Amino acid sequence: MHYYIITGASRGLGKALAEAVLRQPGTTVVGVSRHATIEHERYLHQPLDLSDIAAVENNLHKVFPRWTDAASVTLINNAAVVGEIGYVGEQTNEHYNFVFDVNLVAPAMLMNTFLSAYSGLTVPRTLLNISSGAAQRPVDGWAAYCASKAALDALTATAHKEQDLRGSGVRVRSLSPGVIDTGMQEHIRAADPTSFSEAARFADYHAQGRLASAEDVAGRIIVWLQRPTAEAEPVLLRLADL
Ligand SMILES: NC(=O)c1ccc[n+]([C@@H]2O[C@H](COP(=O)([O-])OP(=O)(O)OC[C@H]3O[C@@H](n4cnc5c(N)ncnc54)[C@H](OP(=O)(O)O)[C@@H]3O)[C@@H](O)[C@H]2O)c1
Repeated sequence: MHYYIITGASRGLGKALAEAVLRQPGTTVVGVSRHATIEHERYLHQPLDLSDIAAVENNLHKVFPRWTDAASVTLINNAAVVGEIGYVGEQTNEHYNFVFDVNLVAPAMLMNTFLSAYSGLTVPRTLLNISSGAAQRPVDGWAAYCASKAALDALTATAHKEQDLRGSGVRVRSLSPGVIDTGMQEHIRAADPTSFSEAARFADYHAQGRLASAEDVAGRIIVWLQRPTAEAEPVLLRLADL
C-alpha cells in the first residue's frame, strides 16, 4: 500500500491532491484538517486544528500509524493560511501566533515525527512542503505568511541536507505551486487595497482566467512524486521544475 498523509485535504489544492491519489489503486490517504469532505474507502480522516499546537502534539501518533504493509510513505504539508491581511504594526499579536503555528510550527512537528516514525523503513519516503513564491519576496499585508513560508523553505533545505548526510534516502523538497483558483485566492481578493498594494493584480489574475486549477496542479505534483528523483533536482522547487 502507498500511504499519503496530506494536510489541508478538505478543500483547495490538498483536496485535489487527495482525490488524485485516491483515483489510483493501492493507495491510502490520511487527510488532516478541521473538516472532512472526502468519502472514500481508502480515505482516513484525522480531524485536527493545526493552530492548536497542544492538540497537534497529542494527536501526532494517529497521523503516523505503524503500517506493516507500506510500499511507500509520503507526507505533504499543504495546509496553510494567509490570515488577516494587514501591515505589521496594524495587526493583533495573536495573528502572528496563528499564522506561524499553522504554516510553520505544526508542519515542523509533522516533519519531525514523520522522519522519526518511519526511520526504520527502507521503502521510498518523501516529505513535500507546499511553499509559495511569497517566501522569496515581500508582499505587503502578508508579512506573517511570507515569513512562515521562507522559514518553511529553510526547514526543508536543512532537513534535506541532514537526510542526505545520514544517507537515509528520504526525499525532502518544498514546492512553490503558482497561483491556484482556491479559497485562499478568494480571501486574497477580498482584502482591503489600503493594506495590500497588489490587490488589483490578484483581482486581474482571476478576471483574466490566469489562475491554475487545483486539479491541474495536483495532477502535475502526483506525476512528479511518482517519478524517480531527477539528477540534480532542486530542493526548493517551482511548478515549472516538475
Ligand atoms: N492558492 C494559491 O494561489 C497558492 C499560491 C501559492 C501557494 N499556495 C499554497 O498552497 C497550499 C494550499 O493552499 P490552498 O490555496 O489550497 O488553500 P485553501 O483553499 O485555503 O485550503 C486550505 C486548506 O488548509 C486547511 N487548513 C487551514 N487552516 C487549518 C487549520 N487551522 N488546521 C488544519 N487545517 C487547516 C483547510 O482545511 P480546514 O478548513 O478543513 O481545516 C484547507 O483544507 C498552501 O500551503 C498555500 O500556502 C497556494
